[in-house]
Amino acid sequence: MRLVTSELVESREILPGQWIQSFHAPWLANGARAGQFVHIRTGDYSGLVLRRPFSINTADAVTGIVTIHFRTIGRGTEWFTRLRPGDGIDMLGPLGRPFEVDQRSQHLLLVAGGLGMAGVRFLADEAIRDGRQVTLLFGAASAREVYPTALLPDEVEYVIATDDGSVGHRGFVTDLMPDYEAWADQAFACGPAGMLAALARLAAGRRGRMGVATLGRKRGGGKADPLGSTAARRKAFLQVSMEQNMGCAVGACLGCVVMGVSGTPQRVCREGPVFASDEINWEAGW
Ligand SMILES: Cc1cc2nc3c(=O)[nH]c(=O)nc-3n(C[C@H](O)[C@H](O)[C@H](O)COP(=O)(O)OP(=O)(O)OC[C@H]3O[C@@H](n4cnc5c(N)ncnc54)[C@H](O)[C@@H]3O)c2cc1C
Ligand code: FES
Repeated sequence: MRLVTSELVESREILPGQWIQSFHAPWLANGARAGQFVHIRTGDYSGLVLRRPFSINTADAVTGIVTIHFRTIGRGTEWFTRLRPGDGIDMLGPLGRPFEVDQRSQHLLLVAGGLGMAGVRFLADEAIRDGRQVTLLFGAASAREVYPTALLPDEVEYVIATDDGSVGHRGFVTDLMPDYEAWADQAFACGPAGMLAALARLAAGRRGRMGVATLGRKRGGGKADPLGSTAARRKAFLQVSMEQNMGCAVGACLGCVVMGVSGTPQRVCREGPVFASDEINWEAGW
């Protein structure tokens, strides 16, 4: 983790109220992994004290460019849209624990709801670089909010659901999950908490529905990996990236907790933002 001033290279509005900004940040582009985030200071102009967390949308170690993808929702994100190329911003990162892909997994299912695209986008790049196949299920309210295909690598199979049926499947993106659960070796999701909870319920019932879902994986061999460990996450079928309001983003203020199944609060900024879906008590209502 480092705190460095990064220079804005490009800023563009890709959808109404949704922006992708590119920063020259070689130190971050080299070290970041999919699922991690940055904490950005909004600057003196806005007078805002707290930093704002954003998923690392993409990171290119060759060019040193890191991007974030955000929706303008309040004063901080409005301030970002007024930045111009050449402006420097104060960026802390990479923060949090990344997605963990089992080396045996060939078929990755990515599921994104709305701005959740920013949470899984980098994983698509990493997976394709490593020779894996990627299907990305994306859900939005309507066609006007659908993430442009042109911004995804060609190798990704992109399947869309919209609430109003204006493009793709009419209904929730979670409706599509059962069609892919036999194909997928692992699934990775980011989006609204309700979407993640629904996916977690589906993942919990998958083994029973599939019968042979554990084929190729040793069962009962040795001690189970402790819940929350990297090894346990790497074996989980579903990993989720959580977004909670944050204060410090370094584990000190407990402003970002969700409840773990063991009854222990989990800090999204330190134990997360990525968790295996079976680590979280989805009924706890944090
Ligand atoms: C780990 C992590 C990664 C994130 N990645 C992204 C990303 O890639 N793209 C993106 O657009 N947003 C992302 N967010 C949410 C983003 O941090 C907030 O939208 C942003 O801080 C809002 O700042 P603001 O000053 O514009 O809004 P504020 O004026 O602070 O708040 C405006 C409204 O947004 C709500 N809000 C603030 N923070 C959050 C939050 N964390 N989650 C949900 N609602 C919030 C507030 O409750 C309020 O209603 C992420 C959050 C976390 C914790
Ligand atoms: S934001 Fe302070 S502990 Fe997570």
